[in-house]
Amino acid sequence: MNLTCVDCSREYDADADRTRCDCGGLLDVTLPLSDEIDRGTFDQRLGTWAKPDVSGVWRYRELLPTFADQHIATKPEGNTNLYDARTLAQWLGIDQLWLKHEGENPTGSFKDRGMTVATSHALKVRARMVACASTGNTSASVAAYAAEAGLPAVVFVPDGKISPAKLGQTVAYGARIVQIRGDFDAAMTLVQQASAELGIYLLNSINPYRLEGQKTILFELLHQLEWRLPDWIILPGGNLGNSSALGKALAELQQTGVLSHLPRMAVIQAEGASPFYEAFRSDFRSFEPMEANTIASAIQIGNPVSYSKARRAIELTDGVVESVTDDEILDAKARIDQSGIGCEPASAATVAGLQKLVHSGVIGRGDSVAGILTGHLMKDSDAVMTYHLGDAAADRPLANRPVVIDPTMDALREVLRDEL
Ligand code: F0G
Repeated sequence: MNLTCVDCSREYDADADRTRCDCGGLLDVTLPLSDEIDRGTFDQRLGTWAKPDVSGVWRYRELLPTFADQHIATKPEGNTNLYDARTLAQWLGIDQLWLKHEGENPTGSFKDRGMTVATSHALKVRARMVACASTGNTSASVAAYAAEAGLPAVVFVPDGKISPAKLGQTVAYGARIVQIRGDFDAAMTLVQQASAELGIYLLNSINPYRLEGQKTILFELLHQLEWRLPDWIILPGGNLGNSSALGKALAELQQTGVLSHLPRMAVIQAEGASPFYEAFRSDFRSFEPMEANTIASAIQIGNPVSYSKARRAIELTDGVVESVTDDEILDAKARIDQSGIGCEPASAATVAGLQKLVHSGVIGRGDSVAGILTGHLMKDSDAVMTYHLGDAAADRPLANRPVVIDPTMDALREVLRDEL
């Protein structure tokens, strides 16, 4: 096992204290993968409560970096539901939509899958302190896993630009919180400097061990589908770590003979934070960072760190990148919520983008689609209240306004008149 530069292929020791190659390129963890992966082992581990096998990450450890048991920091994570979203499929006019709800992880987002692997690596290399920049979910996850591992943590968040629920979560888990006067991209730059100059272990997805854990979203999803491939995998893109991880997972499943062909990948960005979409439109001839602005604060990112790896994932899978407006995100979110599944705004970009791609004919009505919901509904309760109770609620057909009544049966009958 070692680290390999995605640009110049230079190799480094697997525990080298670096997140980039000397040439500036991103690093991959290169695994000594067996070409005889026995899927029956994964089934067997479903029958235990014991750590780490019970984890929806470590269950797939033949496809991950290995660590001694005493270094594995697991809560455990993963084991998220795969919903057969029939109401939404009907609304979208497609035959099959699966939604994998990564908001059902211990801290409410997919980040936990990456964090268990990267925190375990931090323990292995005896890190003194861990750090990240975040739009809220990574910081909550870092804080919880650092607490689990007994490591001090410092998180950098853009002041006033992350949801109060996520900030509260991070406060509660006990990490040191530094609020940056600036945006996520400025926080990301600062944390990289801080980690290099102060010797703090970086837990952002530029750390290739994070992506190793996030590959298991795809492993578990396919396991739940009994290894039958959907035609499409669709997910939101911000810093582009997750798209990169899923691309690497697919490449490795093909390499190990588990898959003979690949699904196509669709990455969805918010229009106000869509540098990857713009690059895709130019056939990846140019990439321009932008100043990001979207209601989906989790993906309010203008200079995604994992651009080159995500591009590789799109090229590998003959994938597409789409962008959606904030209104499209919020309306899709209301539909996901009202189907009883629920998610935070950034996750709803998945379904908003799917709607657009079905409408434009890129995704066929007979195609099967697996969408990733990245964060829990309660991660951004402000977005819910604004949508349903805010000033613009009257113009939103899906708005669900509570009513206030006197405690009498007459008043109640009046309210329920049309439904009973
Ligand atoms: N969805 C949610 C809920 C997120 O929190 C994020 C990223 C994404 C999607 C995008 O994933 O960055 O891998 O492309 N959140 C990071 C954070 C940036 O700090 O919590 P990505």
